[in-house]
Formats: sequence, structure tokens, C-alpha cells
Amino acid sequence: MKEEKRKNLNFDSRAVYYAPDEGSSSIGAPIFMSSSFHYGAEVYKKVVDGERKSVNIYGRCGNPNEYQFEEQMMMIEGADACLATASGMAAISVTLFGLLKSGDHIVCDWTTYSSTHEMLDHRLTDYGITTTFVDTADLDAVRNAIQENTKVLYFESIANPSMKVPDFDGLVAIAHEKSIVVVCDNTFASPYVVRPLEWGVDIVIESATKFIGGHNDALGGVIAMKSSILPADFMEQIRWNTMVKWGSPLSPFNAWVLLRGIQTLSVRLERQCQTAMKLAKYFSKHPKVKSVWYPGLENHPQHALAKKQMPKYGGMLTFEVSDGDKALTVLDSLELACFAASLGGVRTTTQIPATMAFLDIPEEERQEMGIYRGMIRVSTGLEDADDLIADFESALALV
Ligand SMILES: Cc1ncc(COP(=O)(O)O)c(C=O)c1O
Repeated sequence: MKEEKRKNLNFDSRAVYYAPDEGSSSIGAPIFMSSSFHYGAEVYKKVVDGERKSVNIYGRCGNPNEYQFEEQMMMIEGADACLATASGMAAISVTLFGLLKSGDHIVCDWTTYSSTHEMLDHRLTDYGITTTFVDTADLDAVRNAIQENTKVLYFESIANPSMKVPDFDGLVAIAHEKSIVVVCDNTFASPYVVRPLEWGVDIVIESATKFIGGHNDALGGVIAMKSSILPADFMEQIRWNTMVKWGSPLSPFNAWVLLRGIQTLSVRLERQCQTAMKLAKYFSKHPKVKSVWYPGLENHPQHALAKKQMPKYGGMLTFEVSDGDKALTVLDSLELACFAASLGGVRTTTQIPATMAFLDIPEEERQEMGIYRGMIRVSTGLEDADDLIADFESALALV
């Protein structure tokens, strides 16, 4: 199929289709478990002439499985260029170290994944890169936080774990007026639920470990770009200047596993979104539950925005019981849903964000992020929704 035709397919077809392998005619992708590739005079000449991506050289620079995964991600994100990395955090590091230098400044939402927050709040400051944290739901606060040296506006399309939804149009307009690059982590939503590049965001990050792989079995990350302000070769620049030097390529086997995951993304997410909505409604009526955060609920603060930007609302939700001890009792009593780190897989996973992923973040910062000790985060899997409700019903009866 011609590339133009492929790009114009509907989302589900773009997710599942790729061309048969040229060498074997296999409709499944072969795996190239090789760290090194043979140099003939032709390859040698191409490398010397600067055509490095068109040839295979060495596994850290890229490999055929990684390239195929990148192409599939480009198709489903609607991106012009894509780079795969060893994990979601590698994608975030490569993006930020590729975009920024000492003296630069970031404006970032208060609520992002804990390791992202810590990287911006601590590690990047060691290199002279500073961050102002704001509530991006307040567009004036974003405007006021911008400085002469602000280079990046960073937020998540559904924030982990507060479920805040950003106003893409408003935020992109504020940033682009000052040529600030907009970076959005789309991990919690997945490209099935929303494609931020279609809303003017310049760079999208995905932890492919989550919904893209979808089976809790492989780590990976994605950087996807479609930008009116970045140079067209930006992704190639960061591949060679940052990813290769930092040594964070996606392994051939993980690229193969993640490529297979993409092919079922739509059907998994469709079901996960339905189950999340059912659970959100169930928790909303439960007397032991203080609050529920799910963008699909009408009382969610950004429900109208979510309806406009991501009418499927996603497979993630958060609810709150009265304290951390009760949250532990609930999760430790679940029999069908797993009490485990990570999200986005076929098994429902639950965790206590305050004392698991966000444990290293001081209590007062957690409050700014809207993370409370009794909060329970749920990533819905493919189990029957009524069985999951029965599992939570039994667990909640104990507190
Ligand atoms: C929103 C978000 N972004 C990024 C990451 C990091 O991804 P990885 O674990 O693949 O490095 C996570 C991990 O949980 C996440 O929740």
C-alpha cells in the first residue's frame, strides 16, 4: 500500500496494518536480534555521505524492529517523525536533554508522573535547567510563569493520578505565541483516546510500556513529533545527538512485542474505557468512597474539555477512601484486580499513588499535585466489569 493511502486509513486500520516482510513475505514482523550489521562498500559510502538512518550499523543507533515500531507509531499518532526508546522515562529524558541547555526554563503542570516531576525538580536543576510548576488548568498562571528563557511547556493529556485534562487549544496558543515547544505525555490516555499532535502539540511522549504494549510484559518509550516550530530533522538530531549518546535504544525484542501490542490497541481500549466508566459510576455511589476522578463523569472539573478532546475518556480512574490504611486494606483484599505498579495492561492494576509511585515526593508537594493518602488509582483491564465490581465490593466491605 502506498504511504499516502496508509496515512488516510481510519485509526483501527492504521493500527493493525503493516506491509508484509520483503524478504520472506511473512505478514508478521521478523525479529532481528543482532547488535551489529555487515558493512559493504555501499553501506560504508552511505554512512560517510550522511544517510545513516537508511542503513543498519549498530544496535544502539537503531535496528530494523525499532524502525518498524517507529513507523507504526507515526501512523497512529499522526506524526511526521518518531523515535523509540528503551522506556517512557528514556523518551522524556532524551526529549528534554535534546531540547534544552543550561540556562533554559520549563513551565510544567504540578501533576505529572512522579519520576518526571523529580527529574524536573531535582536532576535538571543540577544542569542549570529550572522549572516553574503551575496548575495548567489556570491559563493565566501559565502565562505568568513564562520567562524570557522558557523553552518548553510540559503537561500530561490525562494527569497521573489526578486525572486533570489540559486545554490543548488554550495552552498551545499561549506557548506558540512565544515559540515555546509544547510537550505532552500521552501515556494515561493512549493514542486511541486522544492524539495531541492533532491539537497542535509539538511533541508527544508515550510510555509504550503501558497501553501501547498492553500486556505488562515489555518496557518501551516513544517520542512523536509534528511541529510548526521545531526543525523538520529535530527527531534525527536527537536520535544521534542524545539517544545514541545516552545509550537508550529500544531492544529489537521489545520493539517486536510492542508492535504486536499496537495491533490490538483499539479493541483493548474500547473495552477498557467502557469498564472505566462503569467502575467510575459504581464508585461514585459507594458510601465508603469520598471522591472519584474520571474525565467521563459530569462532575469532573474538565469534563466538557474531555468531551471535546477525548470523548472515550480513557481506561484510568482514581477514587479516594478515608485514609491510607483503608486504601491498603482495600487493595490487599482484591482477588481479581492486581495490587501492582504500572498500568495499561490486560489485567486490572491498582495502586496507592501517594505511598507508591509518589513516595519520594514530600507531602506538601503531593498536596499541590492533588495526591492524597487515601487515593487509589485503577487501570482497567479486560476482565468482566461486573466481576471487577464484585471484587471491589468485597474489598470495600472490609473498611
Ligand atoms: C504518565 C507516565 N509517563 C511516563 C512513565 C514512565 O514510563 P516507563 O516506566 O516506561 O519509563 C510512566 C510510568 O508509570 C507514567 O505513568
